[in-house]
Amino acid sequence: MVDEPYKPDFPSEKIREGKVQVLVPKLAAFGVNPSDYAPSKAPVFYNPVMEFNRDVTVLAFQAYQRMVNREISICDPLTSQGIRGVRFAAEVEGVKKVLISDINQRAFTMAKHNVQLNGLEKIVAVKHKDANCILSCHASPQKRFDIIDIDPFGTPAPYIESAVRALRNNGLLASTATDLAPLCGVHPKACIRKYGGKPMRAEYCHELAVRLLAGCTANLAAKHDVGVRVVFSHSSEHYIRVYAQIAYGAKKADESVKNLGYILHCFNCLHRETAQHPFGSLQCPECGSKMDYAGPLWLGSIFDPSFIELMIKENKTRAFKNSVRLSKLLLLTRDEASAPITYFVLDKLSGKLRLPSPSIEAFVNLLRSNSYQATPTHFSSRGIRTNASALTLHKLLRQAVDSVSFCS
Ligand SMILES: C[S@@+](CC[C@H](N)C(=O)[O-])C[C@H]1O[C@@H](n2cnc3c(N)ncnc32)[C@H](O)[C@@H]1O
Ligand SMILES: [Zn+2]
Repeated sequence: MVDEPYKPDFPSEKIREGKVQVLVPKLAAFGVNPSDYAPSKAPVFYNPVMEFNRDVTVLAFQAYQRMVNREISICDPLTSQGIRGVRFAAEVEGVKKVLISDINQRAFTMAKHNVQLNGLEKIVAVKHKDANCILSCHASPQKRFDIIDIDPFGTPAPYIESAVRALRNNGLLASTATDLAPLCGVHPKACIRKYGGKPMRAEYCHELAVRLLAGCTANLAAKHDVGVRVVFSHSSEHYIRVYAQIAYGAKKADESVKNLGYILHCFNCLHRETAQHPFGSLQCPECGSKMDYAGPLWLGSIFDPSFIELMIKENKTRAFKNSVRLSKLLLLTRDEASAPITYFVLDKLSGKLRLPSPSIEAFVNLLRSNSYQATPTHFSSRGIRTNASALTLHKLLRQAVDSVSFCS
């Protein structure tokens, strides 16, 4: 019997992304501007803005495959129209199996069609199941995956534990979180509920968001005697993304839990410090004001420079539409890997002192010429990671502000 050609019961169009072509909902028909934050009005979710997220993912998964140097399997259990899974199968070398699934019947049908459209039926299997159900069905040793990509609406927290259980030893868990209002401290109760850590509305809240998600991942993995190591992370547009490599063993879990702690912040002078254990005094050592805190969260590294080098190499071999932007992100994060935790935002600093705001280059140079470490950050175009204290920054800014070339 010949199958009827697939025709969705809603407006759709064929688009190209990376090396594949996929049928997606026609967003214009649902009154959605392609640059809108959440084009979820269509019966099947599709967000063209997330192409950058998917490009980064292709680079990261290829870097992982090069690192382990064998054939790998990937699961994309919240696939929607299937674009991720299809791209992984078509664009990541060494992928032998991809399993994609979605709970939405129309998404499942569209994803199935997109697999056929790209002739990938032998590599990509499509299911119509709940994500936790599909992951739990793959928790037994022979069924586990090398990589799991959690790309949900909002928080990935409800899926992390079953994803950890469905990963092979040394597997990679990639999670997206779009619920930045809780993670950045606008809805602190929701953050504590979902991620088990208190957020804080500091100027580096996007880094805190990454650290809260990484900390939550480490905590949930530890329950299963699994340790984690964050190999890459980024904050772009309306989301954050964390790539964590897991490792089996109670000792590995103990080691990763040691990376959990708190970040203390003084909203008066902008001093910040880390604390491993619940703290006694919250008095700022620089100005004496009462500090606020975020956590427990991940205090360990959030970028692995050797993993990022592999991604940089892969980006050079591909002709992504976003390749310049990708390269910028990768070079910045590679340098951030060896820089201090949290960053200062120049406008915040100069605003506090009621001084004009310097250019980022001028302030980086000033810090370096005073023998301090100074590194720009991908988290903010006006941010600097430095080992100079907040009060040193005040002093340097005041001293230098008279210089004609200093302020932008
Ligand atoms: C943000 S969209 C995924 C977007 C897709 N990964 C992409 O790159 O275009 C989230 C998807 O998760 C699906 N979903 C929500 N809850 C689910 C669940 N419990 N199990 C499986 N899929 C679910 C939704 O139907 C939706 O298609
Ligand atoms: Zn202070």
